[in-house]
Amino acid sequence: MIHPKNILVTGATGLVGKPLCQALEQRGHHVSTVSRSQNGDYQWDVDKGEFDSKALDGVDLVIHLAGETVAQRWSDPAKKRILNSRVDSTKLLVDAILKQEKRPALISASGISYYGIQVDGPVDESTPSGDGFLAEVTRQWEGAAQSLVDAGVRVAFMRTGIVLSREGGALAKMLTPFRFGVGGRIGSGEQLMSWISLPDLVSAYVFAVENENVDGPINVVAPQPASNLGFTKNLGFVIGRPTIFPIPAAVIKLLFGEMGKETVLSDLGVLPQRLTKFGFQWQNPDLEEALRETIYSEPEP
Ligand SMILES: NC(=O)c1ccc[n+]([C@@H]2O[C@H](COP(=O)([O-])OP(=O)(O)OC[C@H]3O[C@@H](n4cnc5c(N)ncnc54)[C@H](OP(=O)(O)O)[C@@H]3O)[C@@H](O)[C@H]2O)c1
Repeated sequence: MIHPKNILVTGATGLVGKPLCQALEQRGHHVSTVSRSQNGDYQWDVDKGEFDSKALDGVDLVIHLAGETVAQRWSDPAKKRILNSRVDSTKLLVDAILKQEKRPALISASGISYYGIQVDGPVDESTPSGDGFLAEVTRQWEGAAQSLVDAGVRVAFMRTGIVLSREGGALAKMLTPFRFGVGGRIGSGEQLMSWISLPDLVSAYVFAVENENVDGPINVVAPQPASNLGFTKNLGFVIGRPTIFPIPAAVIKLLFGEMGKETVLSDLGVLPQRLTKFGFQWQNPDLEEALRETIYSEPEP
């Protein structure tokens, strides 16, 4: 039996937030949201350090998704926004939570880029953090909640892989060239991609909400990563298009700079060791099926 919770969600207007809020409400939880705009039940201004702590009244759990998009050219100001929007927002929430008499739990987004850009062999939650800008961002992002962990509050970090969605992220960007028959592997194609379907990502958050023993770092990826070549072939097969035009790594570096190197060209075979131990069940463990469902499922109303 589910005990309904009062949940506050930041970044609820985003790719993950929208279906997650819907799923939580469908399961009987009460959801309120914080946004930079009037689209939220409460507003905040992370740069000015403004957050209305009334938003935490009666809240059992906070889900923190907000953050400047990573999918942009990493100019110095963009890098600052990517870092500060995550670290400063987490600090704002943590400070407000610590002042509460009854402190809500925190489930925060994080990324598998914590492990770096390239790692030999499989990665699990015990693997130390690696190199690169995004690794630094995730270290500081998770680190910003350390005082809450030290205070004994339940905190989970959802180290998320490449989310499969038609609406945004890597797959949405790949679909157009692939549909025109000009898709292909990137670089050598040997680099590992640790992916997760959007329904499974949403379910993992719901699982973390409803299971009080879920805390600490949680790799949110499918049970098996794919090589970029395998991913390419599956995608071509699912949409019935050839995938014979490889994109050289140098072109990705030229087009996307450091961002391309740390995302599209990264090589991370991440395993969801803790989710597996907790008994989480994937709806889309198979890449071909996950791609088919993502691309051909009915759009959300
Ligand atoms: N999607 C992925 O592939 C993926 C993979 C790994 C990790 N993650 C992490 O999971 C979280 C959710 O991902 P998502 O794909 O749903 O992100 P998203 O679609 O880009 O949405 C994030 C939300 O954050 C808020 N936001 C954007 N820029 C901000 C800024 N500069 N300062 C404060 N808030 C800002 C926005 O909400 P308001 O406009 O309402 O304020 C936005 O709707 C993110 O933190 C992301 O890093 C995502």
